[in-house]
Amino acid sequence: MTRRLTFAANWKMHLGPGQASDYMARFLPAAPPRDGRALLFFPPAASMLTVAAAVQGRSDIRTGAQNVHWEPKGAFTGEMSVGIAQEAGASVALVGHSERRHVFGETDQETGFKVRALLAAGMDVMLCVGETLEQREAGDTEEVCRRQLAAGLEYVETLKLQQVTIAYEPVWAIGTGRNATPEDAAAVHRSIREAMAARGAAGRVTVLYGGSVNAGNAAALLAQHELDGVLVGGASLDPAGWAAICGTDA
Ligand code: PGA
Repeated sequence: MTRRLTFAANWKMHLGPGQASDYMARFLPAAPPRDGRALLFFPPAASMLTVAAAVQGRSDIRTGAQNVHWEPKGAFTGEMSVGIAQEAGASVALVGHSERRHVFGETDQETGFKVRALLAAGMDVMLCVGETLEQREAGDTEEVCRRQLAAGLEYVETLKLQQVTIAYEPVWAIGTGRNATPEDAAAVHRSIREAMAARGAAGRVTVLYGGSVNAGNAAALLAQHELDGVLVGGASLDPAGWAAICGTDA
């Protein structure tokens, strides 16, 4: 059976609509659809429509939102509702990315509200969890990830767990050039799967790894069957480089 793999690009605060359009014109021919592979793009909000339009006709590629607010509408300057994200072409959203947690002070409870709002609207969720260096050194990695999972999934009915993908991203590995060894990543993935099974998730939960993934380490990481794919920031910004990573043999 073909292994199912997901390659998710998190552009963060890079690539406006014009650049996104040029990117897609170069990326799409370089990354033809492959059996069992799903590709995801999380562009900045202003570029979502451009990306969604460019990937129409490619059923293997979806557009996602980097962040949403949990309220359906109202006086929340600078925020984007789930409904607006959907209208802009998103069918999935990141929740609890470490930059949201650590740069913008997003709480565990807020991640739970966001997950609830997304699932209620029929969107899929990519819930990000991961420990800081301090927490890792204190031996708290699994506990931190389990706590973040529990809070993020607090309002999720068991049946809807299928709409949730987990991204394990150790904070100390994001944008730093350091990454977990494939074995370390796999061990945390196993613990995440156990936590999801204990929560009632049926079947295999998709668990991605993120944090300084690049063309040089993607194959070794993906050789671990605990990894169902990767969530990539910096190395997804160049269309040719990202197409090559999406074509990694695994
Ligand atoms: P990075 O970012 O690949 O640049 O480390 C990953 C992420 O933040 O999702």
